[in-house]
Amino acid sequence: MFNIIPQPVSLLVNQEKEGFTLKNGTVITHFDFTKDFALFVKNVFNKNVLIGKKTDKENSVILTIDNSVQQDEGYTLCCSDGSVFINAKSETGLFWGLQTLKQLLLQCDGKIPYVEITDYPRFEYRGYLLDTGRYFYKKEDVKRIVDLMALHKLNILHWHLTEDQGWRIEIKKYPLLTQKGSSRSHTNFGVKSHSGYYTQEDIREIVAYCHERKIKVIPEFDVPGHCVAAIACFPYLSCFDRKLNVATHWGVKHDILCAGKESTYKFVFDVLDEVMELFPDKIIHIGGDEAVKTRWKLCPHCQKEMEKHSLKTEDELQMLFMSRVSDYLKENGYSSVMWNCNSVNETKYLSPDIAWTVYGVSDGNDILRTELNRGRKLINANSYPFYLDFPYGWNSLERVCEAEAALTDNDNETWGIEGCMWTEYVPNMKRLEFLTFPRLGAIAEKAWAEKGYATFATFSYKLNDYYRLLDTYNVNYARPQKACPSFVYKTASSLWFKRRVLHWQGLHNLIENKKVELMAKN
Ligand code: ACM
Ligand code: ZN
Repeated sequence: MFNIIPQPVSLLVNQEKEGFTLKNGTVITHFDFTKDFALFVKNVFNKNVLIGKKTDKENSVILTIDNSVQQDEGYTLCCSDGSVFINAKSETGLFWGLQTLKQLLLQCDGKIPYVEITDYPRFEYRGYLLDTGRYFYKKEDVKRIVDLMALHKLNILHWHLTEDQGWRIEIKKYPLLTQKGSSRSHTNFGVKSHSGYYTQEDIREIVAYCHERKIKVIPEFDVPGHCVAAIACFPYLSCFDRKLNVATHWGVKHDILCAGKESTYKFVFDVLDEVMELFPDKIIHIGGDEAVKTRWKLCPHCQKEMEKHSLKTEDELQMLFMSRVSDYLKENGYSSVMWNCNSVNETKYLSPDIAWTVYGVSDGNDILRTELNRGRKLINANSYPFYLDFPYGWNSLERVCEAEAALTDNDNETWGIEGCMWTEYVPNMKRLEFLTFPRLGAIAEKAWAEKGYATFATFSYKLNDYYRLLDTYNVNYARPQKACPSFVYKTASSLWFKRRVLHWQGLHNLIENKKVELMAKN
């Protein structure tokens, strides 16, 4: 009778026995995070919950740290005899229990029958990527996203902070990065300029906000590709000291960090020193995606570096580059993550300590098996279905619901899953929410509910209750006819989107190849 998202492992209801009724003055045990629940009750039910020590068992929500609960993030929840009892091994488990309680209250208008829940997540890593490089999202927007993540029991904010189109994180040692690198002259949505960045104080505030909601933050400093904004500030970072502007449009750029100059490594390590100071969760994403090697092939510095290490290909040079960056982090007690490589040949020089966000493999799954055997951790962020910027015509709610969550047959071989919000074509919160919801609900089910549970049928059955939950946060979600479009709309949308991408990419490559020919001549 209850439609909780994500689905708890077990849920028992007994209508005959006394449960719990929310009243003005219900007392909830004091923890730092209980104010989030109290606020929900006040906003949705127009009732005041008191936060404090319980005096008697009646009319209370009693949160207890309980080592007999097995799983680190697991909890048990029982509504009985006029109170709610949530037990967990950690505060995190208690917090997830309160998220479930919100949904129970909502679905019975504050009067819950006797309920017994045992619950824990399927995967340890349950992420959402927010790309603030293409479009800047202000601090309040990021906090709203974090609130909505917590509601879904997602526990990792993968925060993409540096891009060709904008550098968004204040680095005290290199102020130009934000003075100049955080603005582009115009965007794909018109002639207006776009700018914005987070001060170190903003970042500390957002990280603290996430921690209050039991969410870890993995910042992404994407290297060696996706660095045009940094190169625009410091041309020496590129091969041939290219003088560029902050990129205006998206596309895979040919100017990347030079892997042959020591000055590049100094810059990267300097930036990482400040990034580590700001992000205490001990994991940093170092990108590694879409690093085109046209410049490296011609650059005397890069070629000399290859010779020095007897490398045969520029891909090998990139892997050496990633490993050096990862080793630096490791020396400082941090682990690293990067976007996956596509072939086994590339990974010979890549440290197995670097976890992979798997966004697609073109070689079949052999490479994943090889890397698992080497001890690499893998996160499933396969672009189909986990890229949430793809229009519904391309990646429908149904497709997300029916997706495989684990990368192999054995769940233990997948660290977790991540929904990705790239923002090349997502300039504001309204659009972001429309694309994120309800698909994020389906991803949360994949990440948390037991293997085999989440299907399009189970999710569709719960959809109305889910929309009601999202309404309490005034979310601009997509209705079913938009989230699961008709065949005609689907085809039209796919063609339009593909044409848009291919057209731009084709033109871009043509221009870049011309440039390289000219450079080679000179
Ligand atoms: C990616 O989609 N470039 C990670
Ligand atoms: Zn170079």
